[in-house]
Amino acid sequence: MNPYADFTFKLNFLFRSVKIHFSAVTVSKLGLLRTKKMPIELGQRKLQNQKANCTCLNAAFSPLLIFCTVNCLLGLQATPLYCNMLNFQENSVCKLFGIKLPIVQGGMVWVSGWKLAAAVSAQGGLGLIGAGSMYPELLETHIQKCKAAGIEKFGVNLPLLYPHAEAHVEVIIRNRVPVVFTSAGNPALYTQRLKAEGITVVHVIANEKFALKALDAGVDALVAEGFEAGGHNGKEETTTLVLIPQIRKICPVPLLAAGGIASGQSMLAALALGADGVQIGSAFAVCEESSAHTNYKEAVFQSKEGDTQLTLKELTPVRMLKNELFNQLEQAKQNGASKEELKAILGKGRARKGILEGDLQEGELEIGQVAMQLKNSLSVEAYIKKLLQEVEEGLFNLNKIQTT
Ligand SMILES: Cc1cc2nc3c(=O)[nH]c(=O)nc-3n(C[C@H](O)[C@H](O)[C@H](O)COP(=O)(O)O)c2cc1C
Repeated sequence: MNPYADFTFKLNFLFRSVKIHFSAVTVSKLGLLRTKKMPIELGQRKLQNQKANCTCLNAAFSPLLIFCTVNCLLGLQATPLYCNMLNFQENSVCKLFGIKLPIVQGGMVWVSGWKLAAAVSAQGGLGLIGAGSMYPELLETHIQKCKAAGIEKFGVNLPLLYPHAEAHVEVIIRNRVPVVFTSAGNPALYTQRLKAEGITVVHVIANEKFALKALDAGVDALVAEGFEAGGHNGKEETTTLVLIPQIRKICPVPLLAAGGIASGQSMLAALALGADGVQIGSAFAVCEESSAHTNYKEAVFQSKEGDTQLTLKELTPVRMLKNELFNQLEQAKQNGASKEELKAILGKGRARKGILEGDLQEGELEIGQVAMQLKNSLSVEAYIKKLLQEVEEGLFNLNKIQTT
């Protein structure tokens, strides 16, 4: 390594340590307040009055800062030490699922088999096996492999629009899966039956009407998924920024935000809007452990602003990358195609073709708006580490807000 690069490398780590040192103090402060469930304004005023406490906290963290500085000067990476300072013990999503991080990997057709789900759960989040693209026997195999890998906290995503839902429920119950996320259908269908088996049930919604339906059905938590999200979505086009505060007002159970979340800063924003945790899809779809084809991942990395769009509102709305299939569907709609004609163009197995087999022109390339921010494939471990560092950096940036 050239000496200049080495010097800037160390300087960079030193800078990060100092920066993250202060954000860690902020995390602790916010942590104290969040556990007391204070409204944020009151909390901020309280923060002002707690300057004395803060000094104590600073004093407590100073030895760590010195330790990190020494590490940095020796060229060692000190930041992971601070990553562990984020404490979600009192978080309602973590408590509900018995996990360490309020991060759920969304169930995704042709993407989230047991390998991806197990990798996310092993990092302290909640991984979901996507049943939508599996026959019941295959789902059973994936559940058993996840368990054989020593993973206890995981779930299955059960889209209710597919024909195998009933058989999937039987597999889930027989194999004692602890958590089920239902989506794309009536939440009243299986919620009580699954809960009677001791299974935690969550439903994914994209509007207030379905949130109320799901709450009526007795779900344990909700995922509110905004317009930005990849895959099937609501017709209303309500963005995550608008949807989360709206649902928070009516939602007495833990609330997860989904749609457009790929960085730690966007995770923080979702928490600021009132969510208790996040469900991430697209960013996990391009991780190494995802079963999506490399062509699909590469197309995502090459995508730019405006390259995804929500289409097929006439059938089941879906956000995908624009390609030949997308153009055919749009052209047909412009020519006044009926539902039946659109169904005929779509045919069967398009998502498999695009996501699993990597046919970039004829396949349905489901992905969210955040595609433009995804530039390379990381392991789940590296991605989650990066996400947590960004949360800390985001907290540091919040320090710029002054209260009087
Ligand atoms: C390729 C792909 C497939 C998906 N398949 C499903 C699915 O089978 N069931 C479901 O409930 N959601 C599905 N989703 C939505 C995700 O679970 C998640 O809620 C969404 O991706 C979150 O938004 P984001 O893409 O902006 O992270 C899918 C998303 C993608 C990108």
